[in-house]
Amino acid sequence: MDNFQYVNPTKLIFGKDQVKSLGQEVQNYGKRILLVYGGGSIKKNGLHVQVTDELNKLSDVEIVELSGVEPNPRLSTVNKGIQLIKENQLDFILAIGGGSVIDCAKAISVGALYEGDAWDIVTGKATPTSSIPLGTILTMAATGTEMNGNSVITNWEEKDKRGFSSIYTYPTFSILDPQNTYSVPKDQTVYGIVDLMSHVFEQYFHASDNAPLQERFGESILKTTLEVAPKLLEDLQNYENREVIMLNATFALNKVLTMGVQTDWATHMIEHAVSAVHDIPHGGGLAILFPHWMEFVAETKPEKVAQLGIRIFELDSTNGSMDQLAKETISKLSAFWTSLGAPTKLSDYDIDNKELDLMVERAMVGETIGSYVPLTKEDVRIILERAL
Ligand code: NZQ
Ligand code: ZN
Repeated sequence: MDNFQYVNPTKLIFGKDQVKSLGQEVQNYGKRILLVYGGGSIKKNGLHVQVTDELNKLSDVEIVELSGVEPNPRLSTVNKGIQLIKENQLDFILAIGGGSVIDCAKAISVGALYEGDAWDIVTGKATPTSSIPLGTILTMAATGTEMNGNSVITNWEEKDKRGFSSIYTYPTFSILDPQNTYSVPKDQTVYGIVDLMSHVFEQYFHASDNAPLQERFGESILKTTLEVAPKLLEDLQNYENREVIMLNATFALNKVLTMGVQTDWATHMIEHAVSAVHDIPHGGGLAILFPHWMEFVAETKPEKVAQLGIRIFELDSTNGSMDQLAKETISKLSAFWTSLGAPTKLSDYDIDNKELDLMVERAMVGETIGSYVPLTKEDVRIILERAL
């Protein structure tokens, strides 16, 4: 294991009807609130009314709304939120939505206290030193953003999508009521499942030694997901299955799995590049790319891929070479995602090789990306070509 420190300041408030604790939490931070949400799902499912009712129970509360945050949230929307904070002197941000809404709110929370362009923070040119406090109500199980400091923002004009992480962007509290995910449609539910599994893979395929506990934690998340996901898709309003997937998604990326290991994240960088150029759903992109990444790394390092298959798909370790076991793992993973209805090829999103160069370019943040097997530009091109 590598040396590490672990801090997670987010208070998790999990379970049925927990939106009732909203007022109590918010009053610890401020009364002039920026309410951030997406394209209207919270208006359709009644959550918007529930939240404003709870907030209006507080005395002298002032609410300003930023609605219409896009899936793959854009810098232009972050800038709108920053402007609203400054114009109205707001002191608290409440984000209600999935990863896009929460990530947008995180960028607003640090961008509002930074003199320069918020894109400087996203690209790492500037480091945040303070933030407007942020609380979240999660409506979709996928990213883990509700309990981490990450935010991923798209600069649509530049066709670039980047992530940053800061201790200042951890939510102060996150309310997770599985009932708020009942209305997530089937395709988005599948993308969330693929995303959470991919988060485990990014940390499971690390470049450090001796991390058996972290790996077993990751395998527990994966095995639970393999068991519960098909049942959830049969009945999208089943509380027990929604709650299991919701907690799985949170633990897949609250950085517990990252303790003491050098994680990979190359597939996410490639997916972000594809999304930046073609604006596709993040989980859909990962479902297409991850099997190809695994196949590529297994050509030189099949052992860990084989270990994954033995432990989560119960492959017989005595039956076949490492190479064969790795291949079988990848085909089991692909078959599982396909059985849920996930896409398998970039052409499923009408993506061809026309902008391949740009996607390769955008994926590369250095000479190589990833740690388990550092990928060169040429490797990334091979993976993308195989995924077309
Ligand atoms: O905008 P609304 O109307 O709310 O609709 C959304 C959106 O269309 C809908 N939705 C969410 N909750 C719903 C619902 N529809 C009905 N009922 C509900 N309860 O689902 C659609 C997708 O939402 P989005 O927030 O985009 O999905 P997700 O949570 O998968 O977030 C994806 C974004 O997060 C980034 C991705 O790159 C992408 O930009 N990521 C963030 C990470 C992080 N901060 O840690 C890590 C991830 O790897 C990822 O990169
Ligand atoms: Zn992800």
